[in-house]
Amino acid sequence: MTFFDRFSDVHLVGAHRGFRACRPENTLSAFTASVGRCHFIETDVQICRDGIPVVFHDPTLKRTTNAAFIANKLGIKSLRLSTWDLSRLKQLDIGSWFLAADPFGTLAAGTLAVADLEPLMPQRILTLAELLEWAMRHKMPLNIEIKDQRRTRFDQHVASLVLDAVHRAGSASMVLISSFNHDYLVQCKALAPHISIGVLQNEQHPPELVQYLQTIGAAAYHPADAITSRELIRTLRAAGFGVNVYTVNDRQRQRELFDFGATAIFTDFPELPVR
Ligand code: G3P
Ligand code: MG
Repeated sequence: MTFFDRFSDVHLVGAHRGFRACRPENTLSAFTASVGRCHFIETDVQICRDGIPVVFHDPTLKRTTNAAFIANKLGIKSLRLSTWDLSRLKQLDIGSWFLAADPFGTLAAGTLAVADLEPLMPQRILTLAELLEWAMRHKMPLNIEIKDQRRTRFDQHVASLVLDAVHRAGSASMVLISSFNHDYLVQCKALAPHISIGVLQNEQHPPELVQYLQTIGAAAYHPADAITSRELIRTLRAAGFGVNVYTVNDRQRQRELFDFGATAIFTDFPELPVR
């Protein structure tokens, strides 16, 4: 069985970094809140200083943690995640920033209340192994997006480190691995041909797209909404590829993409279609 064989529904909803509009992204609170609202969760993975895959989006700790405060106290110079050991990362609060930033205006709008969030704090960074264990327990398929590690010493190893974690968790058929760095996808396919691959693209489509996806051995294409058209979806679906579009928060646009034949959309406001 592969990732896409798991679903009987044709219109799949992927929770982008968890229920990111109402919980701090890529935290256990965001993943927990998306259970029952999505078919699968999309999350971001990179490698910390001691070689462990962790769940985190930005290359630096500035936006979504209290690392600046801790670094100042301890005399640490760099806020790049790749320069921090897991033990130190685990001390960070990666949730409370949400209360001050209200990144989607959901607190201001009254969609959720500070009192709902405060008891959840602090949130702690998860290793990929911890998230996979949680996902297996909740039978929640995961799209693992491997972040670009070219500025780190793990560029050549990130694919195998991620695959090790997936195999150790016994979750090969529960995951879809994607990346904007297509070299990682080629490496994944060589190391684990049975694991599904999604090719992320945000600006221009690679030339000869169908052939390109075939060569990589991709199961799906993951274009940004801005470069997605009916024709693109029809062509790729006819060639046998899934088309999973990010990030689509507008419900009307979601419906339109599904009408065009999109297999999945990623959204910050996950909600399962009413049957
Ligand atoms: O995987 C879809 C989407 O997450 C890609 O962009 O920056 O949100 O990780 P980003
Ligand atoms: Mg992502």
